[in-house]
Amino acid sequence: MKKYILGIESSCDDTSAAVVENNKILANVIANQEVHRKYGGVVPELASRAHQQNIIPVVEAALKKAAIEKKQLSAIAFTRGPGLLGSLLVGTSFSKSFALSLGIPLIEVDHMQAHILAHFIQTDELNNNSPTFPFLCLTISGGHTQIVRVDTYQDMTLLGKTIDDAAGEAFDKAAKIMGLPYPGGPEIDKLAKVGDANRFTFPKPKMPELDYSFSGLKTSFLYFVRDELKKNPDFIQQNTNDLCASIQKVIIDTLMDKLVIAAKKTGIKEIAIAGGVSANSEMRNRLLEIGKKSGWQVYIPELQFTTDNAAMIAIAGYYKFLNNEFSDQRVVPYARSIG
Ligand code: KG4
Ligand code: ZN
Repeated sequence: MKKYILGIESSCDDTSAAVVENNKILANVIANQEVHRKYGGVVPELASRAHQQNIIPVVEAALKKAAIEKKQLSAIAFTRGPGLLGSLLVGTSFSKSFALSLGIPLIEVDHMQAHILAHFIQTDELNNNSPTFPFLCLTISGGHTQIVRVDTYQDMTLLGKTIDDAAGEAFDKAAKIMGLPYPGGPEIDKLAKVGDANRFTFPKPKMPELDYSFSGLKTSFLYFVRDELKKNPDFIQQNTNDLCASIQKVIIDTLMDKLVIAAKKTGIKEIAIAGGVSANSEMRNRLLEIGKKSGWQVYIPELQFTTDNAAMIAIAGYYKFLNNEFSDQRVVPYARSIG
């Protein structure tokens, strides 16, 4: 029996709506909010307002693209958290009202779990290269950095996490120091391609077990650049590519070191990456390289499903639907991860 789930994502600065037919994606529409670019980061109040403006047109576009009437929908899945509260409230309120008016179930989805479940999105009948349980997922985004053991679609255990900045934040802050536009990750990725990653060295953050820390790295990058600028005011312009390649290298080295330890510790060789930073071309290459050496089966999401999107919310909602996991109308968003 075919189920049609509408997914709604509004946790940060992308308003997105998607429709899945069971686990197959029919539409995934994303409205990026350009308004934040000139501020060098997401401005929460502007994000909430933009979501409010975008949500109805984005949902209409997704239904149209999927060629689905709203009365055909089986359920509405939405991001409950973590994220910016004002942004989450827009998606949550819209989803509650829409589900109520259509008389269909409401399904809350955790944004970080959804990033992981993006690996189960089918784009056509032939594409079914999804990880098998149990697998490890390195989830790297603008707000989180986690190593998660995934035993089922719902049963996930956090093995390690960042105690301060996320990997995406490290990219974004380093980019800001160099005067590059927001979001900095994709900019650094692009500029690093022709840079020398061994030109400058930055100390790898040292953390026990499987945890991460990136705020010290940002500070040492800031001090290094500041000191060099005193000697040469054109230091950044003359060395942008090498700076990008070098900072990218230390971030990726740090991420991969812990992932290797986690794989050894758990004996799991099914390894996935997810979240915005998994779009990074060098990160993808390194995972393939280390995976080959270590005998891992690696899973790298399609680019369109790495950064925030509602397709991952819809797919996570589909698996909850199969499990009869529904939310009631009193559900409220959460800004920080629970559990
Ligand atoms: O998953 P995501 O879209 O949003 C959150 O849930 O946070 O991740 C956004 C983060 C930003 O920090 C952005 O700079 C980073 O992902 N990012 C990248 C790349 N594309 C996006 N970082 C490095 N290389 C990229 N190509
Ligand atoms: Zn995200």
